[in-house]
Amino acid sequence: MIGDRFSRRDEFLVSLEEGLKLLPGFNLGDLFPSSPFVSFLSGTARRAHANHRKNSELMGCAIKQHEERRAAAVANGAVQEEEDLVDVLLRIQKEGGLDMPLTMGMIKAVILDLFIAGSETSATTLEWAMSELMRYPDVMKKAQAELRDNLNCKTKVTEDDLVQMKYLKLIIKETLRLHPAAPLLLPREARESCKILGYDVPKGTTVLVNAWAIGRDPKYWNDAEEFKPERFECSKIDFKGMDFEYIPFGAGRRICPGMVFAQSNIELALAALLYHFDWKLEEELKPSELDMTEDIGLTVGKKNDLLLHPMLRVPHRSDMAHSNIKLLKFSGMLYNTWVFFAWLAHGFSVRPIRLTRCWAFDVTT
Ligand code: HEM
Repeated sequence: MIGDRFSRRDEFLVSLEEGLKLLPGFNLGDLFPSSPFVSFLSGTARRAHANHRKNSELMGCAIKQHEERRAAAVANGAVQEEEDLVDVLLRIQKEGGLDMPLTMGMIKAVILDLFIAGSETSATTLEWAMSELMRYPDVMKKAQAELRDNLNCKTKVTEDDLVQMKYLKLIIKETLRLHPAAPLLLPREARESCKILGYDVPKGTTVLVNAWAIGRDPKYWNDAEEFKPERFECSKIDFKGMDFEYIPFGAGRRICPGMVFAQSNIELALAALLYHFDWKLEEELKPSELDMTEDIGLTVGKKNDLLLHPMLRVPHRSDMAHSNIKLLKFSGMLYNTWVFFAWLAHGFSVRPIRLTRCWAFDVTT
């Protein structure tokens, strides 16, 4: 999105995480909105403002660094690289001519919006997918066979390869059915009074749509609680917002604009994990005993991290010190997945180190 690694990335991830906690958290002030005193006591608004200021400052810094790098490249006569999102927004701002001028505040908000909406959701889905695969070893085997048969010892999975991975796509669909990353979608407000299923819904009511419950409703799904990717094999049901029994990305005008991006991102990450590694649960833990407790939040991830032992399978390199990696902890943000891929791309030559909690793959040696 910003074309490079952000130098204050760790700070930014912490701030992002804090913002995500604040969003759905309990706020006493919401119960007594007319009382500034209660609002002051709860402190949520104060923390939200501070978080907003911090994010805005960090985004400003990301944009500045970005501009400086570009300017230096131009000064050195370097070939202009492809435009990234920030380039495009800055160019539009410079060109002007819009009915409503694009301010720096708007640019910051767009980038932040994409980071907030796109990171935790995708990382959470990936973690749930791996958890379900560990609980259903036959599904895991089938997915790995698809990848390994098709890729035939290629050293790296690329986007082009994903077209052939039909079963992998079914796995992601089934994961999103059971574990929609944003289970209550985004809140809506009734613009007019209406009646739904006999209930009066007055104008101005906040409406929450429970996509999680809809995806598990036995009226629409056989063996609703079971993880069965095959259910989508001959089914036309899709998450594009036309089938209301399955709406992990929402529906209507506010449907997730990052749906296609998310889909390819998750496919690529999951494909690489399943293609390169076999996975084992912690000692003595049976698949059926894996803890699937959900956390509480706007996005719902696992309450407890998924801990797995990876065993390198492809490419098979006898010189690879398997003992380097003993336990991977799936947690945190998807951007960090790319660090992991960079490590893969370097032929595993970079020795894995203990990573911070913000890394998607926390390597415990
Ligand atoms: C598995 C991954 C994802 C899931 C499950 C997901 C799900 C959702 C849902 C349920 C909504 C609310 C839709 C509604 O209320 O009807 C939403 C909104 C949104 N999503 Fe995603 N999303 C994902 C990934 C992404 C990515 C990768 C991006 C961008 C890079 C993104 C950007 C957005 C934005 C900007 C909105 C807000 C739209 C608005 O304000 O109306 N999402 N997403």
